[in-house]
Amino acid sequence: MSNKIHSILNEVKLDFLGISQNESFARGVVANFVSQCDVTIEQLSDIKTAVSEAVTNAIVHGYKGTTGMVTLACRLYSSNDRFTKTLEIAISDNGIGISNVEKAREPLFTTQPEMERSGMGFTVMETFMDDVTVRSAPKCGCIVTMRKTL
Ligand SMILES: Nc1ncnc2c1ncn2[C@@H]1O[C@H](COP(=O)(O)OP(=O)(O)OP(=O)(O)O)[C@@H](O)[C@H]1O
Ligand SMILES: [Mg+2]
Repeated sequence: MSNKIHSILNEVKLDFLGISQNESFARGVVANFVSQCDVTIEQLSDIKTAVSEAVTNAIVHGYKGTTGMVTLACRLYSSNDRFTKTLEIAISDNGIGISNVEKAREPLFTTQPEMERSGMGFTVMETFMDDVTVRSAPKCGCIVTMRKTL
């Protein structure tokens, strides 16, 4: 990223039960958080789509067949150019985790082909956000951190 992050302007954190009803809740929280910035409709739509993909992954893969808590953290940073801000969204679960993150991030890779998953979630996140990092290990859950300059 070209703009160096400066300081935190705002931060919210939310824990919710990993059930599909809460996907739209998480999207709504992020949309509300972002509304304090000058975002375009397209940027807002991109951010909400990326959040949906990460939250869905936590629910359907992380907690596959069980239910657990998902954490959403939103942070807004000022940049040193004074004109832009950086949005950071972290979505984490305490589920089964990913043994090979590099492989999981490949387009079309899925461990649930029988559920008609297309293996494009991480690719969507990468396309719609400026930067995506994934930290995970088996049985240790997963944290996806996404950044976008606004
Ligand atoms: N939070 C998570 N916990 C455990 N495994 C995960 C998690 N997120 C992703 N994965 C693994 O990474 C794979 C790729 O994820 P990705 O979102 O790209 O595709 P998908 O979820 O399988 O399909 P799609 O998102 O297109 O419906 C998943 O199939 C799953 O094996
Ligand atoms: Mg997915």
